[in-house]
Amino acid sequence: MTIAVVGSINLDIVTRSPRLPKAGETLHGSSYATFLGGKGCNQAVAASRLGSTTHFIGRVGQDGFGQEALTQLASFGVSRQYVQIDEKTATGIAVIGVDANAENAITVIGGANMALDESDIQRALEPLQAADILLLQLEIPMAVCEGAARLAHNNGATVIFDPAPAPKEGLPDSLLGMIDIITPNESETYSLTGILPTNALEAEKAANALHDKGVKAAIIKLGAHGVFYSGYGTQGFVKPFKVEAIDSVAAGDCFNAGLAHSLDCAKAINSESFAEAVRYAAACGALATTKHGAAPAAPYAEEVHKLLG
Ligand code: RIB
Repeated sequence: MTIAVVGSINLDIVTRSPRLPKAGETLHGSSYATFLGGKGCNQAVAASRLGSTTHFIGRVGQDGFGQEALTQLASFGVSRQYVQIDEKTATGIAVIGVDANAENAITVIGGANMALDESDIQRALEPLQAADILLLQLEIPMAVCEGAARLAHNNGATVIFDPAPAPKEGLPDSLLGMIDIITPNESETYSLTGILPTNALEAEKAANALHDKGVKAAIIKLGAHGVFYSGYGTQGFVKPFKVEAIDSVAAGDCFNAGLAHSLDCAKAINSESFAEAVRYAAACGALATTKHGAAPAAPYAEEVHKLLG
C-alpha cells in the first residue's frame, strides 16, 4: 500500500511572541527558527514517519532555500526524486507567527509551488498510478489538484483533500465529484458551505452540504473542540485529546497524514476503519501541537499508540 502527496514545500520562518501583532503594530518577539514546511511536504513527512511508503511530488526554486528544503526533506526520509527544481521561480516560503497559546497566523508566498503544472504529474506517473491513497491540499494550482485527483480516482485510489487555504472561488464540481474524503477546518467549512460549524449540529449540517456536492465523506476539524466525521455509513464526533500544546503549526497536516496512514493500514475502508482512522488522525494532530515547527513536529507511531491508550 502506498500514499502519494502532491503539494507544496516551503521553508517556514517562525517567530514566537506572547501574542500575534495587530495590523500596524510592531511587537518584540522572543525567538525565531526556520523549519521545513508546506502543507504537502508536512503531510508527506508525517505519513512516512508513521510508517507508510510515501511519495512526494512538488517543486522548489533553484535557490538556497530550495537546497535547504531538499536536504531537510531527505533527512526526514522522503525521496526528492519527484521534486522538480524550477529555474524561474523562487522556493515557497511561509512567514509564521506563533503566540503563547500555541495559535498561529501564516502568510504563504507560494513561489515554485504555484508553478506546478501537468509536467509534474507526468514525471510522477509511476507513483501516482501505484498509489492507494492520494493526499491533496490547495497551496498548488487547482488545475494540478484536479489532474492528480482524476488520475487517482480513475485508478480506484482514495482521494483525501484538504481545502486549505480556502479558495475564494469555491471548489469546482468536477473536483468535488472525485474527492473521497474532504477535511476542512471551521473557516474552510464556512467558505465552502456558508455554515460556520460552531457545534456538532452545525458540523453535521455542513457535512451534509458537502455530501450534496458529491463528496463521499466529510471530516470537519473543529480545532480545540474536536472533530466531526460523516461518511462510509457512519457519523460521529472525536473529542480533543488532552496534550501540552506549544505550537499548532502543521497540526492539520499531521491529522491528514494520520488519517491516510490509518486507512492505508486498514484492509478496506468501511464504517469501522473510517471511524478508527479519524480517531488516529485526531491523535496525530494533537501530538503535532506538542512540538515546534511544521515537518519536524510530525509524530511517531509509538507516540500515537501511547496517546490512543
Ligand atoms: O499547515 C502548515 C503549513 O502551512 C506551514 O508549514 C506553512 O509552510 C504553510 O504552508
